[in-house]
Amino acid sequence: MAREVELVIDDIAFGGKGVGRAEGKAVFVPFTIDGERVAARIVREKKSFAEAELVRLEKSSPERVAPPCPYFGRCGGCSYQHMGYEHQLHWKSRQVAQALQRIGKFREPPLQPIVPSPLEYGYRNRITVHVEDGVVGFFRRDLHRLIDIEQCPISAPEVNAELTSLRARRPRDGHYTLRARSGPRVFSQNNDAVAEKLAEAIAGLVPAGQTLLMDAYCGAGFFAKRLLGKFARTVGLDWDIHAIAAAEAGAGPNEKYFAGDLAGRLAAELSQADPALTTVIVDPPATGLQEEVREVLRAYPVGTLLYVSCNPPTLARDLAELGARWTLRSVQPFDMFPQTAEIEALAHLTSAASS
Ligand SMILES: C[S@@+](CC[C@H](N)C(=O)[O-])C[C@H]1O[C@@H](n2cnc3c(N)ncnc32)[C@H](O)[C@@H]1O
Repeated sequence: MAREVELVIDDIAFGGKGVGRAEGKAVFVPFTIDGERVAARIVREKKSFAEAELVRLEKSSPERVAPPCPYFGRCGGCSYQHMGYEHQLHWKSRQVAQALQRIGKFREPPLQPIVPSPLEYGYRNRITVHVEDGVVGFFRRDLHRLIDIEQCPISAPEVNAELTSLRARRPRDGHYTLRARSGPRVFSQNNDAVAEKLAEAIAGLVPAGQTLLMDAYCGAGFFAKRLLGKFARTVGLDWDIHAIAAAEAGAGPNEKYFAGDLAGRLAAELSQADPALTTVIVDPPATGLQEEVREVLRAYPVGTLLYVSCNPPTLARDLAELGARWTLRSVQPFDMFPQTAEIEALAHLTSAASS
């Protein structure tokens, strides 16, 4: 029979699981909150930690709230609906600080207050649902099986209307991306209000009188296009030819977008640029920067680097690996995905070239 343990939760790890200790070992328990005393059943045990499932709440946290979604706990999408929003924000900030300290080895990371989402629910402007044998929905937590979903409370009303009409059509097996509005089928920011706040924060960190913006991992140019007025010339780089085609549509003469070898093109541009008058934005996928891109940034420490990250551990690794020619000025988390464990963050770095 699986072993049951009693724990006091004293941490919430990146990914959303509460952490307690039993017999000197860290035990991760989903859907628990710091301060709670719980009985949990160990489901996986390793040398230094264990995974467990909540069996009973012996003492519950005042931060605990009733999750509004009937699928919460089974659906793989959300991790925090059982926790008040302010408390979610508190833990997401701490998780960014912990990643910077533990992985990045920044003793006192210059963390700015987290920017909340104006909408705690109904914010997602796009979801991908899967269809298999008549089931339309998302993958279950920890299981490669689908859970039938009628409505998703974190999605925008327009997305839920799309879901209702997809279900009514009895779709064939496959993956369907449902969007609040039509647009090119390329990466787009998920939470409109928070994405605008992120773009505003970036604009506020760009020094006056800049000549060149390199927008690396630019997608369809979400940041580049909002910053055109601040630069004499803008270059966007991404490997997705459809995203580059979308960015090129309606581009002005001072805007150029290239698909292909990101590190090579970045190096070619930066080697010719005036470092003091150049800003680089990087917005990589969750895997972070490739080593070649880090190498280019180490070789050409231009005035300003703005790193948009959707994964604190890879952000922390990359910031540490950028080396001594860069100075980390601030890291600001943004709550792009309330109720989920995801965290977006903007890091601001400068080099000697900025002065
Ligand atoms: C997080 S999205 C950012 C998009 C854009 N900044 C935006 O706000 O819409 C990451 C982008 O990086 C691109 N990408 C991922 N890996 C890449 C690579 N190795 N080289 C070039 N682009 C890459 C993807 O196509 C995607 O558009």
